[in-house]
Amino acid sequence: LGLLMMSFASHAFDSQGHRGARGLAPENTLAAFERAMAIGVTTLELDVGLTSDGVPVISHDPYLAHDMVRDAKGEWLGTQSPLIRQRSLAELQSFDLGRVREGSTTAKNFPGQQSRDGEKVPTLAALFARVKAAGADQIRFNIETKLNPTKPEETATPQEFVKATLAVIQEAGMAERVTIQSFDWRTLKLVQEQAPGIPTAYLTVKSRNNDSAADPAWTAGMRLADYPTVAHMVKAAGGAVWSPNFASINEAAVKSAQAIGVKVVPWTVNEPADMRRLISWGVDGIISDYPDRLREAMQAV
Ligand code: G3P
Ligand code: CA
Repeated sequence: LGLLMMSFASHAFDSQGHRGARGLAPENTLAAFERAMAIGVTTLELDVGLTSDGVPVISHDPYLAHDMVRDAKGEWLGTQSPLIRQRSLAELQSFDLGRVREGSTTAKNFPGQQSRDGEKVPTLAALFARVKAAGADQIRFNIETKLNPTKPEETATPQEFVKATLAVIQEAGMAERVTIQSFDWRTLKLVQEQAPGIPTAYLTVKSRNNDSAADPAWTAGMRLADYPTVAHMVKAAGGAVWSPNFASINEAAVKSAQAIGVKVVPWTVNEPADMRRLISWGVDGIISDYPDRLREAMQAV
């Protein structure tokens, strides 16, 4: 029975709170991660940048989020928000990220967000500490290294990212509870070399005019034309998971990836009808700004 339960657990559906719970609290703050945990996600999805003093902090953009950042006097910084790689952790933590600016795009897109003034940009280490303090021993982390190979001046290098991020993971004893994901497949290659036990998730974005899987700058030189599908590329690269944007896939793509042993965890799914459709196709997990809606959709299917 024990064995059966273990194998069941390893196939459990992976509900991931995107940037914590972006639809419910300011993204990538401890408040957002706490909200996601309270809802009962299996995984916290988050983005990492490196400060000028080499500390991995949780931020989606190479700067502190324009629609959220206020200085110590309460002034909104907007596009004057500092680049993370140019400021020390202490400088970055002088800014408040606890609410979104009224009338901003983020406020319009996510009207239900609950503010919590005083939230600072969290370090990855602080998130691990908070989750441990909460006794949430089952929670996993899907850590995205945020680099843009076409804008290397904006961030640290893949080598710096991987070294600093792995150090924090190992220091916290979290190696068995993390996945590292990236659109920039160079970082995933480094992770596999330096920490072979950590699963890697290969992100792709595809629209009519753009397919990152077809761009060797993003795929660490791999060429889509050499493979039958993107999932075959992911498998050849040593990836455990393929994370495409959800609108770019169909049921056949999901099934054929799984048939070669690649899990499929699409992003970022916020409408219940889309969630139910993807669940009925058998995806291995879903990344959502609304883990509350995802929980309901999982019950409905
Ligand atoms: O996990 C994938 C998803 O987070 C990618 O999109 O831009 O929100 O980081 P983005
Ligand atoms: Ca992300």
